[in-house]
Amino acid sequence: MNVLLLGSGGREHAFAWKIKQSKHVDKLYIAPGNSGTQEFGENVKISTTDFPALKDFVLDKQISMVVVGPEDPLVQGVYDYFKSVPELQFIKVIGPSKDAAQLEGSKDFAKQFMIRHGIPTAAYETFTKESLYKGFQFLDTLQAPYVLKADGLAGGKGVLILETVDEAKRELSVMLGEAKFGSAASKVVIEEFMRGIECSVFVISDGKNYQILPNAKDYKRIGEGDTGPNTGGMGAVSPVPFVDDAFMKKVEERIIQPTIKGLKKDDLVYKGFIYFGLMNCQGEPRVVEYNCRMGDPETEVVMLRIKSDIVELFEVLEIEGLDQKKIEIDQRAAATVVMVSGGYPENYRKDIVIHGVPEVKESIVFHAGARYDGTRLLTNGGRVLAVSSYGMDIKDAVNKSYKSISSIAFDDMYFRKDIGFDV
Ligand code: AMP
Ligand code: GLY
Repeated sequence: MNVLLLGSGGREHAFAWKIKQSKHVDKLYIAPGNSGTQEFGENVKISTTDFPALKDFVLDKQISMVVVGPEDPLVQGVYDYFKSVPELQFIKVIGPSKDAAQLEGSKDFAKQFMIRHGIPTAAYETFTKESLYKGFQFLDTLQAPYVLKADGLAGGKGVLILETVDEAKRELSVMLGEAKFGSAASKVVIEEFMRGIECSVFVISDGKNYQILPNAKDYKRIGEGDTGPNTGGMGAVSPVPFVDDAFMKKVEERIIQPTIKGLKKDDLVYKGFIYFGLMNCQGEPRVVEYNCRMGDPETEVVMLRIKSDIVELFEVLEIEGLDQKKIEIDQRAAATVVMVSGGYPENYRKDIVIHGVPEVKESIVFHAGARYDGTRLLTNGGRVLAVSSYGMDIKDAVNKSYKSISSIAFDDMYFRKDIGFDV
């Protein structure tokens, strides 16, 4: 069969690497893809949210499966679009419906879902411009630090954590009053701050059954020792040592199962990945957030650890047949270290020549923000490469990535030298 993959980051390069290993795939297309994905398929210049153009392409190339990488097309309803067009409705779309994607698209929706289905999460309330004063009163009942979240998609920049109640009130006024976050902040969720260590659990679900994928921990801050501004992710490791059987049992019983049952009960159609951002609060798991897609850079370690043919899992989602499948996991550890362009996550340069990637033999170099200019590989984004490796354990995998990085060079490059050191 022919498959179309949507997206253009390191996550999509890792997906392309994995999908192309399937014995069921003839041609793989990636829209729009990057310099890495073209090794496994053909990049096509279509935006992930241009649904009519995707329709024409899919019909022209006789594509029977569309795998959606990023959240934007999902939140905008790519699944529903395909199901609503008669010629497209038999094409398998790997992702949730628009309504279900609200688990990521609206923090308020996700919180209401969790409360309704008894899923452990931080206490919260949601406020609008009209209820600003009530928001101040709610902040007075909480203890520092204060967590403010813009309701809508904000590209990872919609969460503020503030040390004093005065700052929190000021920021709340700004978020609701001024257009700092655009329409993303017409509502603001204020939550209790949870103390603990974060980790991510991923499942693939057909809306009724689920299979648990390898867990991972990502490193969100730009600086070593988890300091400085948040980024899209500076590295990831899998498996996470503290995610042991006892913890996973709690996650499954208290979080995964009620989530899947809740989707069914609420008639939310889901045929894709669910990303549970969790806080381990002294051994008790609580949900920080849901994402309706795989994480980036977590995919760059999770795909390494799935031995099964992933397309066979995708194929049974439509018929709710995931209970008939088993996922085989590679027992080795995996790590990825993200190389970024100097200045990221703020301003950075593009079009810098990258040297040394073909020389890397011990790691898989997934391209994130990179492109070819004829024969030269150039930077094309903040996060440039995700250097991913297997190892006997996390330390071994991380060291392999660092060894590989020592042969890669581009001006102004930066990467964290402490990925995995805390675990
Ligand atoms: P989110 O986009 O909801 O995942 O939030 C971004 C980051 O903010 C999370 O990965 C956490 O590190 C932090 N965060 C969000 N909500 C909370 C909370 N209630 N308590 C503690 N940290 C939080
Ligand atoms: N690595 C975090 C995310 O993909 O949202």
